[in-house]
Amino acid sequence: MIRKIFKWTGIALLSVLSLLGIGYAVATFSINGRIRKNYAFAKESLEITSDSATLARGKHLVAIKGCQDCHGADLSGKIMIDDGAVGRLPASNLTRGKGGLPDNYSTADWVTALRHGIDKTGRPLIFMPSHETTLLSAQDMAAIIAFCQTVPSVDHELPAIDLGPVAKVMGYLDKMPLLSVEKIDHAKAMVAEIDTAEGAVQGKYLAISCSGCHRADFKGGDPLAPGLPPVPDLSLSGNVGKWTKEQFINTLRTGKTPSGHQMNSDDMPWKMTAQYEDKELSSLYAFFQTIE
Ligand code: HEC
Ligand code: HEC
Repeated sequence: MIRKIFKWTGIALLSVLSLLGIGYAVATFSINGRIRKNYAFAKESLEITSDSATLARGKHLVAIKGCQDCHGADLSGKIMIDDGAVGRLPASNLTRGKGGLPDNYSTADWVTALRHGIDKTGRPLIFMPSHETTLLSAQDMAAIIAFCQTVPSVDHELPAIDLGPVAKVMGYLDKMPLLSVEKIDHAKAMVAEIDTAEGAVQGKYLAISCSGCHRADFKGGDPLAPGLPPVPDLSLSGNVGKWTKEQFINTLRTGKTPSGHQMNSDDMPWKMTAQYEDKELSSLYAFFQTIE
């Protein structure tokens, strides 16, 4: 009897393991193929002006859009993650130094990366949130590019991307935004300019940077990866719906919620939201207050 039970549990276990093995093989095969795909989109250029107001605006946008969190404070690139399970994920050196963007990297190449999620050769960018930068207004994108084109050259050569099993499976299950090129509506034209008056319209535009974690409907959800905290609901049905505007602004500047919980900036990027202008945070608050 006991031997029979062992035999059957053994068979059950082996079947589960082989199913997992097949699942893993399918996921890796699919992701590897999608990474190797080559894309082509019509090159678009933008008029770049480098007056001091535009450069200041570009600098502010680079800070509040998290470019430095991934690409490093001086934009010379950074290895975001390097472990056996997730793999090695470097974010490019965006300067003109050694290991940085090539000399012939044009404004149109910048637009291609930010709008379509591919590099100048048509290779999909891995883990670059182009599905968010594609929604920038033409004016803001031009300001970002103008600023980035003026940053000092830094020599910093980064190793190649090497995706580990966890990244491949999470990418396959769409739990990790590995291939933004697949998420973008490439035919959608850029909005020329957005309304920067304080209010829900500006808030909705700014909240694109929150949607990757707080979800497209801003209702939050499961942790983004095992071991991380769940992502809170930012609409009227969550805590934020009960906060005053001052409490909201204070939380996004200090990382400390009205209930006294100090958030870790690796979980919730409050060092990034701390750099938003008061007006921008007020607009975000106004927008979240419109979501039932
Ligand atoms: C979540 C992390 C993350 C954020 C935020 C991010 N990037 Fe990236 N970016 C990456 C990674 C990773 C790559 C490299 C992708 C690759 O080579 O496959 C990349 C690549 C790029 C490239 C393409 C370089 C090339 O070789 O063609 C440009 C341009 C770029 N990023 C600009 C920006 C700008 C500007 C911002 C802010 C608006 C930004 N990125 C925000 C992670 C990020
Ligand atoms: C990288 C993922 C990520 C991004 C991007 C992000 N958040 Fe968060 N946010 C979190 C997580 C995770 C928590 C919960 C942290 C904790 O419990 O310690 C959180 C918590 C919060 C809270 C506290 C809510 C509560 O009920 O306690 C607010 C407010 C908030 N985020 C606003 C924003 C806004 C506004 C943006 C965009 C400008 C944004 N977040 C972008 C992941 C993110």
